[in-house]
Amino acid sequence: MEQEKRSALDFSSDVVIQLDHWQRRTPLQIDFRDSAQGNHAQFWLHIAQQYLTWIVPPTRALRWQPPQSGSKPPWVEWFGDGELNVAENCVDRHIRTWRRNKAAIIWESEPGDVRVLTYFDLYRQVQRFANVLLGLGVRKGDRVTIYLPMIPEAAVAMLACARIGAIHSVVFGGFSAEALRERINDSQSSVLITADGGWRRGSIVPLKRNADQALEQCPSVRHVVVIHRGVEDATHVPMQSGRDQWWHRLMEEVPPSCPPEPMESEDPLFILYTSGTTGKPKGQLHTTAGYLTGVAATTQWVFDLADEDVYWCTADIGWITGHSYVIYGPLANGATVFMYEGAPDYPDRDRWWALVEKYGVTILYTAPTAIRTMMRWGEEYVRRHNLESLRLLGSVGEPINPEAWLWYWENIGGKRCPVVDTWWQTETGCIVIAPLPGITPLKPGSATRPLPGFRASVLDDSGDRVTPGRRGYLVLEHPWPAMSRTIWGDHARYVETYWSRFPGKYFTGDAATCDRDGYYWLLGRTDDVLNVAGHRLSTMELESILVEHPAVAEAAVIGRTDAVKGQVPVAFITVRESFPMHAGLADELKDYVVERIGALARPAEVHFTAELPKTRSGKIMRRLLRDIAEGHVLGDTTTLADPGVVKHLVQLYREE
Ligand code: PRX
Repeated sequence: MEQEKRSALDFSSDVVIQLDHWQRRTPLQIDFRDSAQGNHAQFWLHIAQQYLTWIVPPTRALRWQPPQSGSKPPWVEWFGDGELNVAENCVDRHIRTWRRNKAAIIWESEPGDVRVLTYFDLYRQVQRFANVLLGLGVRKGDRVTIYLPMIPEAAVAMLACARIGAIHSVVFGGFSAEALRERINDSQSSVLITADGGWRRGSIVPLKRNADQALEQCPSVRHVVVIHRGVEDATHVPMQSGRDQWWHRLMEEVPPSCPPEPMESEDPLFILYTSGTTGKPKGQLHTTAGYLTGVAATTQWVFDLADEDVYWCTADIGWITGHSYVIYGPLANGATVFMYEGAPDYPDRDRWWALVEKYGVTILYTAPTAIRTMMRWGEEYVRRHNLESLRLLGSVGEPINPEAWLWYWENIGGKRCPVVDTWWQTETGCIVIAPLPGITPLKPGSATRPLPGFRASVLDDSGDRVTPGRRGYLVLEHPWPAMSRTIWGDHARYVETYWSRFPGKYFTGDAATCDRDGYYWLLGRTDDVLNVAGHRLSTMELESILVEHPAVAEAAVIGRTDAVKGQVPVAFITVRESFPMHAGLADELKDYVVERIGALARPAEVHFTAELPKTRSGKIMRRLLRDIAEGHVLGDTTTLADPGVVKHLVQLYREE
């Protein structure tokens, strides 16, 4: 029976929701003894053997040395003597079973086109595209950048790379030409895969045009493959001869079969860029066997994904959630994945619920920011549709406030679906802290406990565990298979960011508390990383862009709490004396950031100030700016323009 000990808003770590009538469809085949006895390496070896199809099954679990400064990869090796292919695990092994004609991907575009790819369709297309890549000279270890909307070809392209051992780097389709260029140049990709465009809220996202702009300064790219979606007339898409070719033409010209390349466990699978605390995005490198073990197992544990499910993860493939829980995890499990290209409010605010009803979606995995947006739009859009097919709901990307958790649980899940709040990161590759539905009692607002095979702790500044209920730094105590192995081209930064703060332990960068029941409550980042609508942005990255604008002498960016997006960037700017100030400058600077990164980075506010508050050593006092932006200090941020006020505040803070 459902048991709610307190009313919705009176939440605390004692509110427990236990769904006794909810039954798992997939049994948990976990040897909890292994995991509980601290033999985590052996535990993961069993999981790897159980969940994956191997060309050479591994016998070795783990070799590792905590990385130290100056150490080089490889420094960790999971399942070192095994060989396998990720595409074979996500596609080929299913076509040898009854799943051959099962829907692998059901897709709907924003304008409403529908496509269904069975596992056999995927098998044919992945092989053909693998041959296209080989024909373009791509070999094992080469990098391929993918810049696409949410269309089935994105999955085909990723799996084709995996099939031949090429390393893909997917760049979110909402990123600007400049952001794309930076990522292509960092990875030194030889091929770019893009499309004429995508649909977003009824408008065209001009991907090929952005790509052309980016490629003006990307000498490594020799070939561009363009998918013609028909958003633009083919004759209007500029194709550079010798460089650009149409996907559909190339697919017709190649042989139909391409055997999967045997890959060693630690061979790279992909690079995915995330924002860190510096101006430069970090290319997280994930490898083959460990990553796939992590995502395949956690997909089944946390989503209870069964053959009859229609599973919808709303993330874009440009983010880690799209990699792990749209493509690799679900397809490794032989699931039916629903994919939607467009915006949730197009043509109306009920689009998601219309899709859930139309396709009978059973599992929905989304971000708190989307849930809060839907909450704000109101229940009338939800009530237009029958959502009875849903049986499990998931959340990811940022802390979910209990109010949003309860709204999701009541209005979307009809109080019958467990809500799994999943904590993880691009670096962790797979979910780390989350409930096992049907087993773990839920507490709204908590991601609950670490999954089997993981050990987390909350530490104070000196590395000691804090007492239950106290805030501290979230760390992971030992290595796990799906963890990122390095930052592409910058291993020293990897060691410094993740393994130096508490030597031998993985530093997540997040603050958390752990309550007396061992439940984790995530409290946001402890560094200068913003989480805007579930997307990571670095304050430094925004600042270094802003100071490139001719008007800007100095810039400081902080995150202000936002009821819908979690956080939004707010910029404080000092203008060059020589620059003629004008009324439109704030908007100009906002647009400048959008042009350089993408719409998700648009500052919500730009404030001009005669000086930025700094410590005596010259460090910008971000905490003060945050307080000002949140209205904690002044109530009215416009007074910031008065340097006397800032000085006064700086004085106050210094005296603390
Ligand atoms: O701060 C945490 C937050 O998102 C960060 C990771 O961001 P990214 O690498 O972009 O991956 C997002 C999708 C996995 C974390 O350091 N975060 C992610 N999930 C949660 C979360 N914070 C609280 N609760 C979560 N469930």
